[in-house]
Amino acid sequence: MPIGFDRSTRQFHLYNDDFSYIIAVYDNGSIGQLYFGEPLAPDKTHPFLAPLSFAGFSNNIRSIVRFEYPSYGQGDFRLPAFKVRLSDGSGVVEPRFEKYCIYPGKKAVPCLPTTYIESDAEAETLEILLLDKESGLRIILFYTIFSAYTCITRRVRFENAGKERIILESAMSLSLDAPDSVWNMIAFTGSWAREFTMNEAPLRIGVQGVHSTLGVSGSTANPSLIFRRPETTERIGEAFGLCLLYSGNFTVCAEVDCWDIVRIRAGINPETFSWTLEREDSFDTPEAVLGWSKSGLNGLSHVFHNLFRTRLECGAWRDRERPILLNSWEGAYFDFTEEKLLAMAKKAVDLGFELFVLDDGWFGKREDDTTSLGDWFPNMDKLPSGITGLAEKIRAMGLKFGLWIEPEMISEKSRLFATHPDWAVGIPYRARTEIRHQFVLDMGRAEIVDYLFESISTVISSAKISYIKWDMNRFITEPFSMALPPDRQTEFFHRYCLGVYRLYRRLIQAFPEVLFESCASGGARFDGGILGFAPQGWLSDDTDAVQRLEIQKGASYFYPLNCMGAHVSAIPNHQTGRLTPILFRAAAAFFGVFGFELDPTKLPEEETETIKECIIFYKRYRRLFQQGIFSRLDTPTDRNTVAWMVSSEDKKSAIVAVYKLNASPNQKPFRVKLAGFDRTKVYCVSLWEPSYRAGLIFDAADKRLNCGSRGGDELMSCGLLIDNTFLAVSITGDFYSELFLIEEEA
Ligand code: DGJ
Repeated sequence: MPIGFDRSTRQFHLYNDDFSYIIAVYDNGSIGQLYFGEPLAPDKTHPFLAPLSFAGFSNNIRSIVRFEYPSYGQGDFRLPAFKVRLSDGSGVVEPRFEKYCIYPGKKAVPCLPTTYIESDAEAETLEILLLDKESGLRIILFYTIFSAYTCITRRVRFENAGKERIILESAMSLSLDAPDSVWNMIAFTGSWAREFTMNEAPLRIGVQGVHSTLGVSGSTANPSLIFRRPETTERIGEAFGLCLLYSGNFTVCAEVDCWDIVRIRAGINPETFSWTLEREDSFDTPEAVLGWSKSGLNGLSHVFHNLFRTRLECGAWRDRERPILLNSWEGAYFDFTEEKLLAMAKKAVDLGFELFVLDDGWFGKREDDTTSLGDWFPNMDKLPSGITGLAEKIRAMGLKFGLWIEPEMISEKSRLFATHPDWAVGIPYRARTEIRHQFVLDMGRAEIVDYLFESISTVISSAKISYIKWDMNRFITEPFSMALPPDRQTEFFHRYCLGVYRLYRRLIQAFPEVLFESCASGGARFDGGILGFAPQGWLSDDTDAVQRLEIQKGASYFYPLNCMGAHVSAIPNHQTGRLTPILFRAAAAFFGVFGFELDPTKLPEEETETIKECIIFYKRYRRLFQQGIFSRLDTPTDRNTVAWMVSSEDKKSAIVAVYKLNASPNQKPFRVKLAGFDRTKVYCVSLWEPSYRAGLIFDAADKRLNCGSRGGDELMSCGLLIDNTFLAVSITGDFYSELFLIEEEA
């Protein structure tokens, strides 16, 4: 049984084969964190884990006591897990253990995305009820442990069972006191077109972390953190990580105190949140996932990838191979006619594409980004047969048809704004900040979600659309809802996020076969919350392959490859001006949901042939790329080489990609150790050699050094030998990539 309770020590032990998480009810009825990490024997108790002195609070703040869901104002001066304001103005409550229950399975939360189970046998859940007798505040802590994943999920419900109103000023999803501070903390930060930059530093005393006040999780920081031991590498060592399944304003941070205990918090950002609980009201926090690994950062990523790919992504597309799409954005921007789109689609068919996606510019009077958001009907001047006619023609060519929308937005120049100016977020007597010439719809209002559902449903069903790219291109300013009373304006941001989730849920239920891809100017809402609705997301507007290696790598610490939209674009690249060979661009995009965004009618002839081969190659290995085990391989620290691999769960096949960035002569060769093979089996290593290499002179050294029969033990312990000299192997000199195919020999 994966959750045990020992009555004598009052310890709960959540465990599976690879992980233990132990908490206890302390003498005063609060809940303590005792241990998480490598599995401890489940059939005995661990009384020595209890803190030495519990009543140690004084001016000498002995915060060696570790709590699970600490409250405010009673001697623990670290960041609390929650804060309330009672009707008399006081903020202190004493939530004490009341009762618990343990049951097989896991409950869903209404309105919020969560990980799920398909049978009760997959997981077990512990609910602990804490009660503040004076106010009637009930706090229910939910913990779920899965048998197959080295992680637990946590969330919290607040219930007002008292007689007076209670205001929730802060409500974390997770608070976790780790026993020491010898960890490096990794956050994933950035901005538009440079999302998921790894930001690593040793923990130091005080509070450190990242947050969002943007209205969405944002590109400035992802709602996730990793803690690794300083000696932990991609392959070995201890690490744990947490990921908040939430798409709105969040905080994830760590506070190190002077006793070297680290308090980690993850939840809705209290800076922009409070929630009123009238009598009998309840509030559910988003879910947080805590994963742990002793096999390095790759091991930790595998925990999250497996869980997210199979038990967070959902719907018909979860396990399906994702189509290879051609998106019109970088190929046409707003400048298209039906004729031009059909020409692009025709060429796409020749090249082997499966889905044609019409991006921004098809609706209302939209000719640029200044108008029409909210008017979700086709621009008949541009598209005389409408979306329905265009889609029919494209389907007749043998492609599926997909469409871009930006539901949460409204342009001042739109029919919708003329009819409903009050639907835009803003304070009536103050100027509204315009960003990209657009305002934001108040998604917390049911009538707005209804309007969007109706208008978008009409387009989807009339044009038989197979795929929707749901964009969101501006952060939220002047937060205010004309539908909320003054004392509930602090609920605006969370209600906005719930409204987005509500619209997603309704559309997915109405159109279960449609594949949804999330987007927010690229990766500004690429988080575990949105992944619970849209099984893939457009990771970044930066399509430059060199930059993509960094961005996709950053995202890969938590998110699986089958949710990362990755497109090949034209050169010179539109974001950086860089010239990279077509094979290099494709090799970067293979490690994601492979697609293109360029005008295929303008491709140079030699690229056309190579693209065809790349598409055939990806189709052949698509399941491996999208559902295999992805690992980042250790390469020399000069950052000039990147190596990745995907391997099959049955250890029979793998693909290794090596990307060499800047050419320089006479470099040292190096070894890349691989992962995921059977040490006792023999494998055949070959190099993928497309017939036409688009200007590349073949670099024979790596083939000579590595191809042939190799033992699984050799591949993992010795690895491939990569010759780092690649003078004149690429048309541009720089940016050379190669893909090794590895198959178990019969
Ligand atoms: C931002 C997205 O990230 C792009 O891919 C594109 O869809 C544009 N918006 C369209 O306005």
